[in-house]
Amino acid sequence: MTSEGDLRLQRLSHPPVGHFEGKGVWVTGASQGLGEALAKYFAAQGARLVISARREGELERVKASCVGKWAPQDITVLPFDLTSSHEVLRSAVETAWEALGGIDYVINNAGEHIQMRPRTAASNTT
Ligand SMILES: NC(=O)c1ccc[n+]([C@@H]2O[C@H](COP(=O)([O-])OP(=O)(O)OC[C@H]3O[C@@H](n4cnc5c(N)ncnc54)[C@H](OP(=O)(O)O)[C@@H]3O)[C@@H](O)[C@H]2O)c1
Repeated sequence: MTSEGDLRLQRLSHPPVGHFEGKGVWVTGASQGLGEALAKYFAAQGARLVISARREGELERVKASCVGKWAPQDITVLPFDLTSSHEVLRSAVETAWEALGGIDYVINNAGEHIQMRPRTAASNTT
């Protein structure tokens, strides 16, 4: 992000070997799908992890399946709903910050995937 607040995608296609080792990474939406895969990737890269979503049981399953220098034993499971109040979100940030001793990366991946359907001629008629 520039000083003017202009968001730009930073391309990090091939991070150097060891780039994420020891880094503090917080992955939201980590109970399944892309977030689960990202959690496993960062664990394997030697990152220290906090994983979040609403379903604590699924987060525990993902934690147990991670392998790495700090995984699974040092992975922090932090369940919460991202649509919660400001206070809940602030508390989650503080917990993640303390667990990691500072946060290097947040992968804010949680969300609902909305299935898009192509328009058909029939759906265009009123
Ligand atoms: N897959 C695609 O083709 C695609 C395409 C474009 C964009 N995306 C986006 O990429 C992200 C991941 O996709 P995906 O396919 O892996 O999705 P997914 O399988 O549906 O997983 C979504 C994750 O988000 C968590 N989540 C949902 N609502 C939440 C909430 N209110 N608070 C906290 N956690 C919440 C879910 O866990 P809990 O249910 O345990 O909370 C789950 O871990 C999503 O944001 C999606 O919109 C995906």
